[in-house]
Amino acid sequence: MMELISEFDDKMVKKKEIVDEENDFSQNPERQGDVEEEDKIEREDGYPPIDDVDLSVSQLDGVGAVTQKKLETFGVTNLIDICVRGAREVSEITSVAKPTCDSWVFKAQKILEDNNLIRKSDMDVMDLMDYHEQLPTVSTGCTEVDELMGGGVRPEATYEIYGEFGAGKTQFCNTLTCNAIAEGGNVIWIDCEDTFKPKRIVEILMAREEITSEEAKEKLNNITYLYTPNTEQLLGTINALSTLLLEKKPKLVILDGAIGQFREEYLGRGTLAERQMQIARLMTHIKNISFYFRCPVVFTNQVQSDPSMMFGDPIKPIGGNVVAHASTYRIYFKKSGKKRLARMVDSPEHAQADAEYILTDKGLVNVE
Ligand code: GTP
Ligand code: MG
Repeated sequence: MMELISEFDDKMVKKKEIVDEENDFSQNPERQGDVEEEDKIEREDGYPPIDDVDLSVSQLDGVGAVTQKKLETFGVTNLIDICVRGAREVSEITSVAKPTCDSWVFKAQKILEDNNLIRKSDMDVMDLMDYHEQLPTVSTGCTEVDELMGGGVRPEATYEIYGEFGAGKTQFCNTLTCNAIAEGGNVIWIDCEDTFKPKRIVEILMAREEITSEEAKEKLNNITYLYTPNTEQLLGTINALSTLLLEKKPKLVILDGAIGQFREEYLGRGTLAERQMQIARLMTHIKNISFYFRCPVVFTNQVQSDPSMMFGDPIKPIGGNVVAHASTYRIYFKKSGKKRLARMVDSPEHAQADAEYILTDKGLVNVE
């Protein structure tokens, strides 16, 4: 988070210097408001270190020792958690009436905004455009696939990668991870399928860069690995993630195989409602994590074949509408002979497009 913020700061300060040279409004009374606004932006640019901000839940009206204890028991330890979990869940945890919890979430959000820990909710549209352009990306290094995603994965967004077994979903995550840690960033990898292989990370790092095996292994320290063999473990891990997120300030969070775990555990039609409720909760949390902790969250998803489809590709991601609506970007990975195909299926800013890639010792690379 710190690196993300400081990277963003540097860019904003540089941009501010250019703006200052171009617009000296101080002599024009009609533009005084703009000058004040500019001054404000300048002050806001100097984001405070997150550790200096009081994030304690006790500053919320009505949160006493008992409520605080209850919140802590469920992993809600700070104001960011209050926002990530939302009023309904906080109400369930504390047994406090929903309107009071609404006000806590509102107040927590306000404190985070006032301390520049998150984006202002009423940001000027032009500023928002600049803000989006300056968000740092984590790329795969495979230019075809990067282009498909507008340069790589960005903070404040969730990326759903779905496709058949062996399509390259985990390899995509490996490749992104290698690029993030090669630049000194931290990565949190939540593994639901037990397919994370540190050896493969070392192999990709060594194939991509001129580094020794010792140096590559050293970089593994930037990865925090969490294995979640079942959905209870997964949801518990996500709920308790904020402490780790605040400590590591990761450039990237990966959830490999999350939705598939629900499919395996919740069998039969009778469990459908409960399954979708749990998946919805997970989706809300990871979406909020990507926003409040300013990091990209990449999760992989399995597929099912739709037998009712007469034409076209019958392959569909699992998880239904709950997953579909929660993902900012959906990318379909497909085997196509020796080559592989990544298709941007849903994006708020990209047209549907394809990118070809192959898998080698370097991870995802362009087709020669
Ligand atoms: P599931 O997790 O089973 O749903 O599949 P996935 O989409 O995650 O597949 P994954 O990313 O694990 O990709 C597996 C494919 O990558 C297999 O076809 C492997 O042959 C290929 N692969 C894995 N490691 C290497 C490697 O070191 N070199 C090359 N060339 N290919 C590899
Ligand atoms: Mg996999």
